[in-house]
Amino acid sequence: MYVDVLLGLQWGDEGKGKVVDYIADQYDVVCRFQGGPNAGHTIIIGDKKFVLHTIPSGVFRSNIINVVGNGVVLDPITFKKELANLDTVNIEYKSRLYISQKAHLILPSHRLLDAASEASKGATKIGSTLKGIGPTYMDKTGRNGLRVGDIFLHDFEAKYRALKEKHLGLIKLYPQVEFDLAGEEAKWFESLELLRSLNSISSEYFLNDLLSKGKRILAEGAQGSMLDIDYGTYPYVTSSNTIAAGVCNGLGIPPSKVREVIGIAKAYCTRVGGGPFPTELENETGETLRRIGMEFGATTGRPRRCGWIDIPQLKYVNMLNGVTQIVITKLDVLNDFDEIEVGTSYKYDGKETHELPFDLCTTAVDVQYTPYQGWKSDLSECKTFESLPKNASDYILELERLLETKISIISTGPERSQLIIR
Ligand code: GDP
Ligand code: IMO
Ligand code: MG
Repeated sequence: MYVDVLLGLQWGDEGKGKVVDYIADQYDVVCRFQGGPNAGHTIIIGDKKFVLHTIPSGVFRSNIINVVGNGVVLDPITFKKELANLDTVNIEYKSRLYISQKAHLILPSHRLLDAASEASKGATKIGSTLKGIGPTYMDKTGRNGLRVGDIFLHDFEAKYRALKEKHLGLIKLYPQVEFDLAGEEAKWFESLELLRSLNSISSEYFLNDLLSKGKRILAEGAQGSMLDIDYGTYPYVTSSNTIAAGVCNGLGIPPSKVREVIGIAKAYCTRVGGGPFPTELENETGETLRRIGMEFGATTGRPRRCGWIDIPQLKYVNMLNGVTQIVITKLDVLNDFDEIEVGTSYKYDGKETHELPFDLCTTAVDVQYTPYQGWKSDLSECKTFESLPKNASDYILELERLLETKISIISTGPERSQLIIR
């Protein structure tokens, strides 16, 4: 029938996992279309916490099909660990989990190259999650990669060796890093056994067939639009198209099938890793946001950089994605603030504007802020928009006005049920 997209509007970690898990019951299929184990999508159900890296966040809904699309890069080692976590709580996935044969494989030597490349950059390092994402996508576009479908072919081991040899040649260009290649390789080959036992499919036929049968698909973005390889804060980005356009080539679905684009943003803003962040608060307020919001990476545990919400940044990605509705998460993190600031415009090159410059790395923007009164109260009992304290609902209405897009869901806590649907 149609494909809806849910994707991050900032620099990742907006709460995609939680919201996908919640709205998944309105769909028949949930798919990942890009990224890989650099993603960490947290889902809290009761007293259990899960962090998914490659598996779509629809997996906890028992009747939903989950597809890892061709645009994803998959590390069999991480994938096996993720599945083992589902086994511990008896989530049945074998009949509902499908993997594109065209998804590219992350080899241990891709991770080695990622680490060595970062080491060579010193202070200008990207702050990669070191999951091998960049080198794997480089091999994909360089036409050297290995794909999931290759693991069933008789010459797979020869192809693997050839690619590894190429990597060992490249590694000589970089400083030495500690990496147990032999050990990781053994784990990798062992993990392939499980991968071979799962449903690997031609996901473009599979998904288009489901669409023609009237099924509803949700495409789950990883990372955020500001980490997009083309439109993000290059070179401090990831290596895939994280924006809505990535759905079509990451799943083989035509643009005419895309219906809603649900953009998700925190009520403030965070970023992990290097690169420009115009509204960053390198002060006590930033630390307070980090402490209350528990802003530590779900994949790497690194502290996330924190700042205020940034309207020019959000307007930019609204435009790129054609966002039709917005989800605001972590509103509760602002409960104790006397005043909340919103970055409403940028000043650079002598003008005030809503447009982002060519390069946020080299153009220092002077962010203009507008202060809003805090609400200084707990939101845990608020189940409707009308029951929010007036300053909190005013804050949401103000964001809606500034972004000219409907805010349809507000998240007020990490648990599944802590959501206000408007
Ligand atoms: P994702 O990568 O976009 O799925 O987001 P992450 O899982 O990396 O990070 C979001 C974090 O915020 C997780 O720890 C979630 O449990 C938590 N979270 C999600 N929504 C809310 C919310 O509304 N309030 C609070 N306090 N925490 C939230
Ligand atoms: P989810 O899906 C936040 C960041 C890294 C680094 C840059 C490049 O959980 O929102 P990479 O490993 O892709 O080479 O790293 O991108 N990054 C993320 N930041 N959330 C993510 O995913 C991220 N995935 C990558 O920190 O700055
Ligand atoms: Mg995350």
